Amino acid sequence: MPQFPQRLAGRHALVTGGSRGIGKAVAIRFAQEGAVVAINHRNDPDAARETLEALNAATAQAGLPQAAHRIEVGDVSREQDLEAMFAALVSAWGRLDILVNNAGVQSETPGDTMTAEDIGRIIAVNLEGPAMASRIAIRHFLGRPGGGVILNTSSVHQVIPKPGYAAYAMSKAGLGHLTRTLALEFADKGVRVNAIGPGATVTAMNDAWRDDPQKRRAVESHIPMGFAADPEDMAPAYAFLASDEARYITGQSLFIDGGLTLYPDFKHNWSS
Ligand code: NAI
Repeated sequence: MPQFPQRLAGRHALVTGGSRGIGKAVAIRFAQEGAVVAINHRNDPDAARETLEALNAATAQAGLPQAAHRIEVGDVSREQDLEAMFAALVSAWGRLDILVNNAGVQSETPGDTMTAEDIGRIIAVNLEGPAMASRIAIRHFLGRPGGGVILNTSSVHQVIPKPGYAAYAMSKAGLGHLTRTLALEFADKGVRVNAIGPGATVTAMNDAWRDDPQKRRAVESHIPMGFAADPEDMAPAYAFLASDEARYITGQSLFIDGGLTLYPDFKHNWSS
């Protein structure tokens, strides 16, 4: 008897940036729920191999027959890499049902020194990549019965400004509106598009504080629930939104953030 609901049985999913962090947790959860999964990465082969093993183990633990999980190497900011990845998947699997645009990068772009090159690099990965991958997926979804699902990994910085990181904040705000726009454009064509906005999550992206107890306490002091998330805290919502249980949900952004988007400064009234 599988330990997890089998809401994604028979579905085929691509998770970009799936070698580690949030993407890895999502990929594993998808496999636990019965999906066949491809994890994409750009230059993270050792972690990707480990994740592939974890996917195979998840499938075995769920008591399911061996699945054709795969690794797809490619840079999501390069349209030709995306086209090649999709072509390889459709040729191997004959179909794709779920695209998770999760790969993302973050670096400082102070408002008084940022360059077009700095901004362009972040936008290319975090926003243009998801837009191009969505176009390729949507064409596939429209060309067959059943439609498909797109999930975008956004951030609390879709709505919360991030001083010093304007390009990152812009990219995530844009991803929120890409989500809403494509959701409306294809709502009557069987394509659902939603976003998940993580709060502070313990991944390599947060190397600056995750292993330093003092810095971590400082970060966590700003989170209403008092602790940073594990990637596994994100994964169940992706599985739900990818499944038919969410068949009437499109164009939404779900923030999974321990309360970060609740204006924590207002916890103790100071304004009246
Ligand atoms: P991570 O750094 O652990 O993982 C990022 C993944 O993206 C890796 O697999 C990496 O190989 C891949 N990647 C990066 N650039 C790529 C490219 N050009 N092409 C293909 N793959 C590429 O980071 P994490 O934290 O798991 O981040 C995943 C997503 O979650 C990102 O979009 C990030 O912006 C978002 N996020 C993370 C938060 C956090 O606190 N960790 C908070 C809010 C959002």
